[in-house]
Amino acid sequence: MNGREAKLTEFFDTIFEKYIQKGPIFINRKVLTDAYIPETILHREEQLKQMTIALAPALRMEKPSNLFLYGKTGTGKTLCAKYMKMQLENAALKYKVPLKVLYVNCKMRKISDTEYRVIANLIRELGHNPPAGVSLDELYRRFFEIIDQKVQIIIIILDEIDYLVEKAGDDVLYNLTRINSELRNAQISFIGISNSLEFLEDLDPRVQSSLSEEKILFPPYDALQLKDILYQRAKLAFREGALESGVIEKIAAIAAKEHGDARKALDLLRLAGEIAEREGAEKVTLEHVDKAVEKLEEDSLAELVRSLPKQALLVLQAIVNLVKTRGKTYTGEVYREYVKICESLGYKPLTQRRVSDIISELDMLGIINAEIISRGRYGKTREITMEKVERVEKVLKDALT
Ligand SMILES: Nc1ncnc2c1ncn2[C@@H]1O[C@H](COP(=O)(O)OP(=O)(O)OP(=O)(O)O)[C@@H](O)[C@H]1O
Ligand SMILES: [Mg+2]
Repeated sequence: MNGREAKLTEFFDTIFEKYIQKGPIFINRKVLTDAYIPETILHREEQLKQMTIALAPALRMEKPSNLFLYGKTGTGKTLCAKYMKMQLENAALKYKVPLKVLYVNCKMRKISDTEYRVIANLIRELGHNPPAGVSLDELYRRFFEIIDQKVQIIIIILDEIDYLVEKAGDDVLYNLTRINSELRNAQISFIGISNSLEFLEDLDPRVQSSLSEEKILFPPYDALQLKDILYQRAKLAFREGALESGVIEKIAAIAAKEHGDARKALDLLRLAGEIAEREGAEKVTLEHVDKAVEKLEEDSLAELVRSLPKQALLVLQAIVNLVKTRGKTYTGEVYREYVKICESLGYKPLTQRRVSDIISELDMLGIINAEIISRGRYGKTREITMEKVERVEKVLKDALT
């Protein structure tokens, strides 16, 4: 063994030893993901009560009102809907009521993001195989047939319903909400879930009033509520004593500032733990939380950039090139640089007008800052700056190649 190898072996030994001595940071990291449903849901008593009161008639075989759950991201909508599904299924079993609850997440690409796929998915949820290669009408007929085989109540949860409407239009909701009038035995109710109420306004008025018979708001969590939620999970996720004091409070405060998002809070806690583990640290510290915040910001920027269309990436590249050397840049300059890049990469450049629109979009997404300034008799232009140029440049490199 040469000197370098010996050093390496020693390095591994100390890292491994550290691990063994201190024990793991996590006992069960899965508890911090969306897949886990906690036994008790904190700070959603009001919403769960409203849902229970609205849905209870199903156990007496009366069709419940349609519900519409709305609120910002990470406020517990999906969790509460899945929890109610479990409660209802248990009660149905106990009291021998023919009641089924179907859950469809409409944001699952290729699985449930078109009318056809949603119906096929519902058929699957009912335990049947959707017929292959049939028309949409035929698929609906099969769906009707399956649910109308017997007297029963079916509650359909359509999660991320706004996404479905955006992608597939509101026909599917129109068709689904009208089904009841054609059924003889079964009755269907809906629970729609969405981030925004605005999308309701654009729907066909009949669908709108049918879907939102009862609206339930999920407000953001405040720091104290987030603290409770984090403690509940941390107890199951981490080895005792693995969190330095103040870690949970710090994460709760950060997530409360960003529209009270429980998912973000749990993500930060998980990430901080992972970073601590990777460093071979004994505890998760406040510093690990800072690193987790940084990492999460990086990840969401990367995701945002990756989702941009090619032309926007090219415009962004032009901006990065200019801002990197000069600190700031202007619309006209960006266009010239953009045309150069297009030519060197073999793309046909868009018009200056379109590029200007793209600059506005990038500004709106918060990737750049574009401020309108006056240049006296030369008219107006936009001064463009960027906070995290290096970071954007790195992500762009991956996205453009
Ligand atoms: N009151 C709560 N108690 C415990 N955990 C919670 C609570 N609210 C949310 N969570 C957890 O936070 C995460 C996000 O919650 P959920 O998925 O229900 O958010 P959402 O409102 O559906 O968000 P989105 O609009 O982005 O779909 C999940 O891991 C969930 O288990
Ligand atoms: Mg959700």
